[in-house]
Amino acid sequence: MTTPIILDCDPGHDDALAILLANANPAVDLLAITTVGGNQTVEKCTINARRICSVAGITDVPIATGAAEPLIGDLHIGEYVHGVSGLDGPDWGEPSVQASDESAVDLIVRLLREHPEPVTIVAVGPLTNIALVIRDHPDVVDNIREIVIMGGSTERGNDTPYAEFNIKVDPEAAAIVFAAALPVTMCGLNITHQALATPDVIERLKALDTRMGDLCVELLTFFSASYLRTWGFTSPPLHDPVALMRVIDPSVVECLPEPVAIETEGRYTRGATVVDLHHLSGERDNALVAMTLDRERFWDAMIEAVASYV
Ligand code: RIB
Ligand code: CA
Repeated sequence: MTTPIILDCDPGHDDALAILLANANPAVDLLAITTVGGNQTVEKCTINARRICSVAGITDVPIATGAAEPLIGDLHIGEYVHGVSGLDGPDWGEPSVQASDESAVDLIVRLLREHPEPVTIVAVGPLTNIALVIRDHPDVVDNIREIVIMGGSTERGNDTPYAEFNIKVDPEAAAIVFAAALPVTMCGLNITHQALATPDVIERLKALDTRMGDLCVELLTFFSASYLRTWGFTSPPLHDPVALMRVIDPSVVECLPEPVAIETEGRYTRGATVVDLHHLSGERDNALVAMTLDRERFWDAMIEAVASYV
């Protein structure tokens, strides 16, 4: 079965590899790429989506620019991780793939209306675009099969002690998504930190001896330096492709139904995903929460995708 998906992202090094995986893996049909401000400004994220699609030869997937700011407040970007361009490391040159004139929300709404079957939304950046679709276009919500996000954590955060970056950028948007009458799956740091691009992974990419393999090594080398400098990681977690892997093969990303609340008020905890793992609150299970990754099968699928490019 091929699942139609829309990938909403903020490229971003791990977003870039998620684009490669989404385009290459036959289990998903990538209908569109939409961008949102997060790792960098939305303008730079769109340029970066264009860059990776140009190098990968992805010319048949529309790229649409989304929200520049969160629902409330100002955007704070993840320049400390992804660099000034948002995709630092490689020398990109001018992208040949253009972006659509349609806005991200308009493209998502149109595809949800037009596609012959429900569409899965894979959101691996702040959730602003998705919240706007749910809030302002309730008539298309039934055409969303499920929403699978990279975001949140059952443990500590990364942007603040208790908030993961994607949720922290727009907690109000996340609250809208997790309150929606929709299947939502959360792939948080607790599972994406199981997807470390360790030296054996880097060696497998180098052994491909292809331009795309070498480009991914360059991206991961920059990403690795950011993670070592900021959080002391010896190998960087490849967050965003984990969310995609949940759609490609759910058996690779084991989940549990849990109540998830989004903290929007806390002075020190705003943006936290409060996961009631022991069901003490009596609240309903409003999300599937990813807990265990089959690392070997994840990396096999990721490297197989990279190997499919020249
Ligand atoms: O916290 C990790 C998430 O924030 C990833 O999606 C990364 O790309 C950044 O957007
Ligand atoms: Ca991202």
